Amino acid sequence: MNLPKMNEAKKRTKNEVKILYDDYNSLNISNLGKDKKYLILTYGCQMNEHDSEYISGIMEDIGYEKTMDMDLADVIIVNTCAIRENAHNKAEGMLGRIKHLKETKEDVIVIFCGCMAQEEGLVNKIKEYKWLDIICGTHNYHKIPEYLYEYMNKGKVCEVYSIEGNVIENLPVNRDSKYTAWVNIQYGCDKFCTYCIVPYTRGKQRSRKSEDIIDEVRELYNNGYSEVTLLGQNVNAYGKDFLNNYDFADLLSEVASTGIPRIRFVTSHPWDFTDKMIEVISKCDNIMPYIHLPIQSGSDRILKLMGRKYTIKEYLEIVKKLRAKIPNVSITTDIIVGFPGETEEDFEKTLDIVNKVKYDLAYTFIFSPREGTPAAKMEDKVSMAEKKERLAKLNELINKYALLANEKTLGKTYDVLILGESDKKGKYMGYTPNMKLVNIKCDKELVGKIVPVKITDVKTWSLDGEIANEK
Ligand code: 5AD
Ligand code: SF4
Repeated sequence: MNLPKMNEAKKRTKNEVKILYDDYNSLNISNLGKDKKYLILTYGCQMNEHDSEYISGIMEDIGYEKTMDMDLADVIIVNTCAIRENAHNKAEGMLGRIKHLKETKEDVIVIFCGCMAQEEGLVNKIKEYKWLDIICGTHNYHKIPEYLYEYMNKGKVCEVYSIEGNVIENLPVNRDSKYTAWVNIQYGCDKFCTYCIVPYTRGKQRSRKSEDIIDEVRELYNNGYSEVTLLGQNVNAYGKDFLNNYDFADLLSEVASTGIPRIRFVTSHPWDFTDKMIEVISKCDNIMPYIHLPIQSGSDRILKLMGRKYTIKEYLEIVKKLRAKIPNVSITTDIIVGFPGETEEDFEKTLDIVNKVKYDLAYTFIFSPREGTPAAKMEDKVSMAEKKERLAKLNELINKYALLANEKTLGKTYDVLILGESDKKGKYMGYTPNMKLVNIKCDKELVGKIVPVKITDVKTWSLDGEIANEK
């Protein structure tokens, strides 16, 4: 048994990152799951969604078949998120359901993995749960075949590593979409923003080799994918752990030259956003004009307490350059309200910045103390009622600008990559280059294609469109 240790998880050394090309399935198990089914439940960010695509690939590689029906599953995998309390609560709620299921269906194997499994306090509690069979963390989910084998032969497995982390290559992957794909370019985070648990749950910031990334993008393109989203906690810090000055701008430029029609990337940090990056984005037609640039707060005082290491002035400077160099760029953001010590004046500054930048969209959150992070220990005098009021006020403003941004698209024509059926009955859905969701009445044959779409109606969260003949 290996339990997580938060103190170990935050250590950073100068040790070289190991890139492991053959760390998967050393037991050579291929039919462990023959005639059996697995269900995977995923909480949290794109990173977790993509990890689940790998876990799915691994389960199918050892013979399991996917099911969406919990009652049919022989293995249930819960891939968890730790970023905020409500993510925790959702996963814990699901665990309640699974516990209940296990009372009548003893044979089902329950695997608990992801960011919550990296949390010391939580794992110390859940390791005692008799109905939880395998616990593993973000650094070792590729060992699930071995853990399943061990569980079947010896019983309960709890293996969580609080290490800086390696880069694991060559894992089987089962992607959710045939047209758009996530590509990891970097793992972990070294920024240690004071509110954030990610540097503890996902280890040190480490980049994948550019050759491996480009090979993956080429293969996706050859297999009919039209869009890749490069994934990392701080994509623009890509390559900082290399010794050869190769950086994110170089990577973007190389990915663009593969010819894949659409390239996106998340998440950018205002700290490492260089002019060279902006130059590359502006020059390459296949890099989409959409930048997610978390600001977190509009107050320099709060930004300092958050450990964000930029000022509002510097942030606005980047926004100005982006708008000057990339026509029609969409900018979205993340904002936290109610950070410990946030005064009404600080909050007003957040509203001011929203009024200045006029974001296309923002993801807004109430500060959630995460055990082991510095902000969790900061004095917090603002009541929850006050925080909720601030959030509602902020959301109202965000929604106003989201609608305004969408209204600008009315009557215009955009290339839309059609991804599949929409929630709106009888329609299909896809995204514009600016990442705006469009619902379209069109032929099924157009799914997977990039087609010109004229915008006929707009709402706060989506657009309606019709196929246009030309732009
Ligand atoms: N409380 C609230 N929001 C948080 N985020 C990260 N940690 C916390 C926290 N402890 C938000 C940030 C980040 C986004 C992914 O989640 O805004 O950008
Ligand atoms: Fe968390 Fe900050 Fe790293 Fe983003 S940059 S993952 S908010 S520590």
